[in-house]
Amino acid sequence: MSASSDDAAAESAATGGAIVELSNVNFGYTATPVVEDITLRIDQGEYVAVVGPNGSGKSTLMKLMLGLLRPDVGKARLFGEASHDFDDGSRIGYVAQHASASKEMPITVREVVRMGRFPHVGFGRLSAEDEAIVDRALETVGMTAFANRRVTKLSGGQRQRAFIARALAGEADLLVLDEPTVGVDAESVDAFYDLLESLNEEGITVLLIEHDLSAVTEHAERVVCLNREIYFDGPTEEFVQSDALSRAFGTAASFLGGSR
Ligand SMILES: Nc1ncnc2c1ncn2[C@@H]1O[C@H](COP(=O)(O)OP(=O)(O)O)[C@@H](O)[C@H]1O
Ligand SMILES: [Mg+2]
Repeated sequence: MSASSDDAAAESAATGGAIVELSNVNFGYTATPVVEDITLRIDQGEYVAVVGPNGSGKSTLMKLMLGLLRPDVGKARLFGEASHDFDDGSRIGYVAQHASASKEMPITVREVVRMGRFPHVGFGRLSAEDEAIVDRALETVGMTAFANRRVTKLSGGQRQRAFIARALAGEADLLVLDEPTVGVDAESVDAFYDLLESLNEEGITVLLIEHDLSAVTEHAERVVCLNREIYFDGPTEEFVQSDALSRAFGTAASFLGGSR
């Protein structure tokens, strides 16, 4: 065994297949903590949904996982490395909340998807093989017919699929989606979740932040319910039976048939 495969073996033994690991993480933008005492592990191949009321720290938690923010206390690891040191962007497909940064960009769907190849080619040109990977990603998300359309001309659902295609073109093994279906029509939402489910079946780890609880209970295998702290972390069936939702959401849970 070479030294490098020893290192790899030692690292995989240390992380045990964990893609994301948070240990006793605290974080606040100011002196007020936004998330507290978060311990969480996500393994390869899981489909995990994070739910919680507005302002409960979901997007913050995700940024801590991805190393976009650093914990004040505790540790965040991504693919076995300290999250803030992790720099293999190609392994992660991130669809941000309100994926609208591109709204101002006069670029086509295909150009967005080609960006997924950039971490693989450095400053080099995309090869024919890269372009074929782009084609396949467009096909997988059903956007081939829209390849030459400007992203500004897409519906919300189409735009989200273009961003997923970019992640697929990058051959990401972790897809992170922050409220991806806000502003997307109901029919496209169903198609979107079908797509996520089939990608997960192919082995891609899916981490979904979602406000739509019915989507979560229908699709995710595991739910993390957050409101500053974790109120629940376990199988979706158990979450539905538990009182975590009303404890975490308080009176906001009334829209689900609570007491108000
Ligand atoms: N960049 C920021 N600077 C200061 N406070 C922030 C920032 N981002 C979020 N917050 C605050 O942190 C809390 C959690 O926000 P966020 O993680 O966006 O929650 P969620 O995604 O669950 O709606 C909120 O009180 C929000 O106002
Ligand atoms: Mg958010």
